[in-house]
Amino acid sequence: MSADNAEQIAEWNGPLGQRWAAMLRETDRIVAPFGDAALKVAAPQPGERVLDIGCGCGDTSIEIAQRVGAAGSVLGIDVSQPMLEVARSSGALANCAHLAFREGDASEVSLPADMDLLFSRFGVMFFSRPSAALGHLRESLRPGGRCVFVCWRAPRDNPWAMAPLSAAREAVGVTPTPADAEAPGPFAFADEQRLRRILSTAGFGDVDLERFDAVIFLGATSRSAAEFAVKIGPVSRLVREMGAEHLPVIVDAVERALAGVAASSGQVSLNGSTWIVSATNPA
Ligand SMILES: C[S@@+](CC[C@H](N)C(=O)[O-])C[C@H]1O[C@@H](n2cnc3c(N)ncnc32)[C@H](O)[C@@H]1O
Repeated sequence: MSADNAEQIAEWNGPLGQRWAAMLRETDRIVAPFGDAALKVAAPQPGERVLDIGCGCGDTSIEIAQRVGAAGSVLGIDVSQPMLEVARSSGALANCAHLAFREGDASEVSLPADMDLLFSRFGVMFFSRPSAALGHLRESLRPGGRCVFVCWRAPRDNPWAMAPLSAAREAVGVTPTPADAEAPGPFAFADEQRLRRILSTAGFGDVDLERFDAVIFLGATSRSAAEFAVKIGPVSRLVREMGAEHLPVIVDAVERALAGVAASSGQVSLNGSTWIVSATNPA
């Protein structure tokens, strides 16, 4: 059966991917601490062969390429043309000849064999059939090869995303529907038991999930934090769905909500919570 990831592929080739490509440095502010924590666990070694799944604009692929050195190799795989365009130009600038990027759906694209490490920073939660997708990816690993990725834990533990979203929804009268917690999307791997089941059905062993939290800086004032929050994360999606004419009302509502949680300096920093997941391909 072929994977039906068409909806996500369209999203990441449309405004969502274009926004990530255009706002690379701002997005990095959110994702970098979590990616660094995952890289510490993955510990890529000189000479290793690595796949970076859902590599996006290529930051982690470049970082890993620098660690494995010219004796190793890194292949970044992604479905998003606008993000891969950024990745390819940054990879060239970083002068990493042993780094390549490939456009393709990681759940079914043909992959090199005998890889040492599968890595992903927030790029594996978008598969419609996650066990099959991760099973396909596992087959590219050598026996004993490892898989390390970071994914978001539950929305309630991620106020950096949910505080702005609740305020924005209220401002435009959108009642949250009970989200399908298993639907492809940022929080699809939040549930620990489900994630363990997915990995074991995919054939992985030695599965370990470590909670990793970090404070995310949203802005020096509640206004700048609100302006940032509406451009990124789940609020940006709501703005796209509702129409740009709602933006001023949404920014004001998010600003008021964030003022309520700002530090005495006015700065807004809120918690982000993730799983650092590691597993191995049984020998
Ligand atoms: C949240 S972004 C993370 C990007 C990058 N890893 C980073 O941390 O900056 C998710 C990425 O997964 C990619 N993606 C989604 N579905 C995919 C699939 N089926 N195959 C490969 N990549 C996919 C998206 O295009 C996007 O680049």
